[in-house]
Amino acid sequence: MTTPPVPARPPSLAAPAAPSAGGALVATGLVQTYGAGATATTALAGVDLTVAPGESLAIMGPSGSGKTTLLHVLAGILRPSAGSVTWRGRDITRLGDRERTLLRRDELGFIFQSGRLLPELPAVENAALPLMLAGTPRDVAERTAAGWLAHLGLAGMERRRPGELSGGQAQRVAVARALVGSPGVVFADEPTGALDQATGAEVLDVLTRAARTAGAALVVVTHDPGVARHLSRTVAMRDGRIVDEFRAPQAAPDGRSGR
Ligand SMILES: Nc1ncnc2c1ncn2[C@@H]1O[C@H](COP(=O)(O)OP(=O)(O)OP(=O)(O)O)[C@@H](O)[C@H]1O
Ligand SMILES: [Mg+2]
Repeated sequence: MTTPPVPARPPSLAAPAAPSAGGALVATGLVQTYGAGATATTALAGVDLTVAPGESLAIMGPSGSGKTTLLHVLAGILRPSAGSVTWRGRDITRLGDRERTLLRRDELGFIFQSGRLLPELPAVENAALPLMLAGTPRDVAERTAAGWLAHLGLAGMERRRPGELSGGQAQRVAVARALVGSPGVVFADEPTGALDQATGAEVLDVLTRAARTAGAALVVVTHDPGVARHLSRTVAMRDGRIVDEFRAPQAAPDGRSGR
């Protein structure tokens, strides 16, 4: 695979500023306990975290330290036992299921480790899915998705199904799907964990650049210090708490230095 050239803006971004521009994601006092009684596990033991607009953040820490739990709470997938997550003036932990679903569809993007693409759909339809679900006409949705696929170096592969793509290519489709709806924040849980190191580095590179193009903040869970080096800030977790934090020296505080 080759790294795609810096492309023209995808069609979805031809419109004036995505609504992603304003507002931080602010988590306060997050506690998450799984189970009850003797078997209860405290996965988050009081996490405060702010993700600035357009910032790129790595979450690191040993297995079981609460990274995935934190990501799921920040992304509105999981409602915490206590604490709040404020996004665009709303505490998303207090939204009803339907509102939360709409929020996740329209304002937040999520990339799973394995991509979770639908195997029977071609790449362009996988990438267009969030727009289709939001009621965007099919031709517009697929044109926008194709723009993102091209942006991510997959021009000509639009009709291939996930099984006809390499792992790195399939993960780029997952990146396209996460960005196609112009989200304010993109979350990724070990997005390169299933890839070899070189391919993983390429996917991460296109992910960070695409998020920057889209003006989206990026929150990436990773075990790989090489991944964290691509991002503007890293927080380290242990036993459900953030125990350390550092910034990449070369990046601007808001992560938009390359814009
Ligand atoms: N659904 C669940 N039910 C019960 N306990 C859970 C559940 N999900 C996670 N846990 C526990 O919560 C803690 C944090 O898990 P989490 O998945 O957030 O860790 P992680 O940092 O993402 O780990 P890894 O690096 O292995 O993915 C662990 O002790 C885990 O066993
Ligand atoms: Mg995890």
